[in-house]
Amino acid sequence: MLGSLSLLWLAAMTTSLVSQSQILTLEDYQEGEEDDVTVATPSLAVRCDYDRCRHLQVSCQELQKVGPVACLCPGLSREDQQPEPPRLGEVQIMAEEGYAVVHWCAPFSPVSHYWLLLWESNGAPQKSTPLNATVRRAELKGLKPGVAYVLCVVAANDAGESNVPGAEVEGPENWTGPSFGPCRKFIMPPKPVTLVYAAVGVGTALALLSCAALVWHFCLRERWGCPRRQGMAQASEAL
Ligand SMILES: *[C@@H]1O[C@H](CO)[C@@H](O)[C@H](O)[C@H]1NC(C)=O
Ligand SMILES: *[C@@H]1O[C@H](CO)[C@@H](O)[C@H](O)[C@H]1NC(C)=O
Repeated sequence: MLGSLSLLWLAAMTTSLVSQSQILTLEDYQEGEEDDVTVATPSLAVRCDYDRCRHLQVSCQELQKVGPVACLCPGLSREDQQPEPPRLGEVQIMAEEGYAVVHWCAPFSPVSHYWLLLWESNGAPQKSTPLNATVRRAELKGLKPGVAYVLCVVAANDAGESNVPGAEVEGPENWTGPSFGPCRKFIMPPKPVTLVYAAVGVGTALALLSCAALVWHFCLRERWGCPRRQGMAQASEAL
């Protein structure tokens, strides 16, 4: 009798314990799930602070590693493929100093480094030193005034280098590529200094000419008087 009672009690205890533990685990699970959701929702919406046109921009994958919360990166082409061409942006021309500042934007591809190609005239282009993958801006020095150039930016990774449209074209004169790709044609203006000299020269010539005209005019008047006025005076006397 006592034995069967204690057996019943034991059974009741275990079932209650089991049900309690089941409830607990269910609650734990639900809480955990809720936590996951609250953490996951904002991080899904946050994009990494990555601008593919920003100079000295570290790669988005590195931003993902160091950031406090996971952020989203733009999709990239495959690593075992050559990169897509970068997009050449603004070319700021400093005519007086004979240099240009070039900006570009990274392609949506893994890039290990960049370089620039510069055609001055028919023949092989000049190739810049390699620029690391964070670089988006470079200076071109020693550009000659009044000369046409074609400039291209090339991205490279372990699988190869990006295409350069019109690389087979002989020199800047024949180049007719699109202006939104990796290449751009630009013409260095003549030096402002020479323009100033030219303006001063033309101005001086004009001033000398008008002086000469004035001197000639007054000399004539002093020598022969003013024939038209005299003529008019004679005419009025005659009336
Ligand atoms: C990349 O090049 C830039 C400009 O030369 C330099 O400031 C930067 O430290 C370099 N970054 C790395 C990771 O080498
Ligand atoms: C374009 O290239 C051709 C040779 O491929 C050359 O004969 C021609 O003179 C070039 N045109 C200009 C404007 O330089």
